[in-house]
Amino acid sequence: MSERSGTLADEPFGGRHPTSHERMAGQPWDASYRRDEPAPWDIGQPQSAVVRLASQGGFAGAVLDAGCGTGENALHLAALGLPVLGVDVAETALAMARAKAHDRAIAVEFAVADAFQLERLGRKFATVLDCGLFHTFDGDERPRYVASLASVTEHDGTLYVLCFSDEGPETGPHPVSQKELRAAFNSSTGWNVAAIAPERVQTRFHDEHGAPAWLATIKRP
Ligand SMILES: C[S@@+](CC[C@H](N)C(=O)[O-])C[C@H]1O[C@@H](n2cnc3c(N)ncnc32)[C@H](O)[C@@H]1O
Repeated sequence: MSERSGTLADEPFGGRHPTSHERMAGQPWDASYRRDEPAPWDIGQPQSAVVRLASQGGFAGAVLDAGCGTGENALHLAALGLPVLGVDVAETALAMARAKAHDRAIAVEFAVADAFQLERLGRKFATVLDCGLFHTFDGDERPRYVASLASVTEHDGTLYVLCFSDEGPETGPHPVSQKELRAAFNSSTGWNVAAIAPERVQTRFHDEHGAPAWLATIKRP
C-alpha cells in the first residue's frame, strides 16, 4: 500500500491500493455517493440494529464508526451525547455527513481514513462500529482489516460488526457466514467473539424487513 493514503485529490483511489470491492465495481467507493441518487445502502437514517443497541447502552466511551458513509449511525450516536469519529475513504460521503451534522447541530467528527490503516489515527476507542464494511472485504483483505481494528480498540473495548448473512432468502450482495466471522475474529487475531445474533439490515433494495444479517459482538481482551 502506498504511503499516500486518504486523499482523492489527485487520482481516484487517493494513493490507496483499490479494495476488492473497488476492483470488482471498477470504480472507487467515492463514485457511489451522488447527490442525485443515494447509494443502495444509504437509507437516510440509522440502522434499527444500531438504534436498539444504543438504547440498550451498547455504546460507551469514545466511538469509532469505520466506513461511516454519509454518517447516519455516527450522527445518531453523537446525538445521544457520545464522542464519535466517523471515518471513510469516500470524501463525498464525508462531505454529506458533515453537512448533515451542521444542519442538525450535532457535534461529531468525520475524517478521511483508510480502514486498513486505522493506527494512523493515533487514537483508541472504547466502542467500534462496522456497519456494512467488513462484508465488502474478501478473505485476503480481512486479516489486515482485523489487525487495524485491533490497533484502535481499547482493551476490554467492544466491536460491533453488522454484516449481511448467508442465511435466509434475499441475502445481500456480500453474504458472510458465522464461520467466516469466527475465522477472522478469534484469540489468535486479538479478539473474542462474545455473540453472533441474527439481525436485519435495511437497504434501498430490500422491502421494509431488510436483508438477513449478523450482528457480531466482539471483545478486545
Ligand atoms: C456499504 S457502505 C456502508 C456505509 C455506512 N456504514 C452505512 O451503514 O450507511 C461501506 C462504506 O465503507 C467505506 N469503505 C470501503 N472501504 C474502506 C476503507 N478501506 N477504509 C475506509 N472506508 C472504507 C465505503 O466508502 C462505504 O462508505
